[in-house]
Amino acid sequence: MPVLEVDALRKTFVRGLLRRRTEALRGVSFRVEQGEIFGFLGPNGAGKTTTIKILMGLIFPTSGKARLLGADAGNRDAKAKLGYLPENPYFYDYLTVTELLDMVGRLHGMDASARRRRSAALIEEVGLGHAAKRPMRSFSKGMLQRAGLAQALISDPELVVLDEPMSGLDPIGRKEVRDIILGLRERGKTVFFSTHILSDATLLCDRVAIVVGGELRDTGPLGALLDPKVDAVEILWAGDDATAERVDELAGTHARTSEGRISRVADLDAANAVVARVVAGSGRILHVIPHRQSLEDVFVHEAKAAGAGRGGDA
Ligand SMILES: Nc1ncnc2c1ncn2[C@@H]1O[C@H](COP(=O)(O)OP(=O)(O)OP(=O)(O)O)[C@@H](O)[C@H]1O
Ligand SMILES: [Mg+2]
Repeated sequence: MPVLEVDALRKTFVRGLLRRRTEALRGVSFRVEQGEIFGFLGPNGAGKTTTIKILMGLIFPTSGKARLLGADAGNRDAKAKLGYLPENPYFYDYLTVTELLDMVGRLHGMDASARRRRSAALIEEVGLGHAAKRPMRSFSKGMLQRAGLAQALISDPELVVLDEPMSGLDPIGRKEVRDIILGLRERGKTVFFSTHILSDATLLCDRVAIVVGGELRDTGPLGALLDPKVDAVEILWAGDDATAERVDELAGTHARTSEGRISRVADLDAANAVVARVVAGSGRILHVIPHRQSLEDVFVHEAKAAGAGRGGDA
């Protein structure tokens, strides 16, 4: 049984006196299995937060189904096993993060000693140890984001849903959050998070879904969405002009850098031939870099395929 499942989800927002309609979701379906780190990717306005709010039972779909932990979205028993970080978490200004975690722990029905133990550990884990006793109105954006993550984890939930968990974090904070997410998977938890930071998805996700303009473009393991084909190979090498002449016969012209010469060829076979000539000419290979399609390429391609002006507003 999937831990999280959306089926043919549609959401149309109707705004104002003129009843302007925005089709935020146009029939989105995917499943997340137990123990996965699942990335929900898409550009701004794609429908990520709308999907997550439906999953949390905060808004209702126009049609379609959302289920998590074996129950319909919004079910109380399921919510008890769920941790959620909203996109723009808002916390009461005068609370400290310790008080926040205590309050959320109480909502989850945890006893006082468990709350104390768990919140002290989490505050350290998210890097707020130095600020545990400060009111959160003095927190920076990154600190608020860390507090938000801690409150999502206080009840040691089975399923963690994070809307843009890396937003507002510096590179160290992003690495810390990545480590926390990987730690959750190690303990058998399921993590579903939205992002448009592609490098974070590449480093973390077992599978991703790409949503553009309210439509699902692709679902699968990242490796399968990326074309494994090599687009080009760069060879950085050092050697004399005579060798360079023979290499250029294969690779066209080369570029020179302070470290050596860079030749660029179309595939690995051609790269091997270049390497052989460099070595035969008593040159030295410094670096061979095969270029493959990145997640960024897929993303841009999918967004373009969705067509310009297909933002969903009418
Ligand atoms: N309450 C609302 N009323 C009207 N339109 C809305 C509402 N909430 C969202 N939308 C529209 O639905 C679409 C999807 O918005 P959503 O917040 O789900 O995008 P997102 O993928 O989370 O984007 P981002 O990366 O910017 O967070 C957008 O066109 C947005 O304007
Ligand atoms: Mg969003």
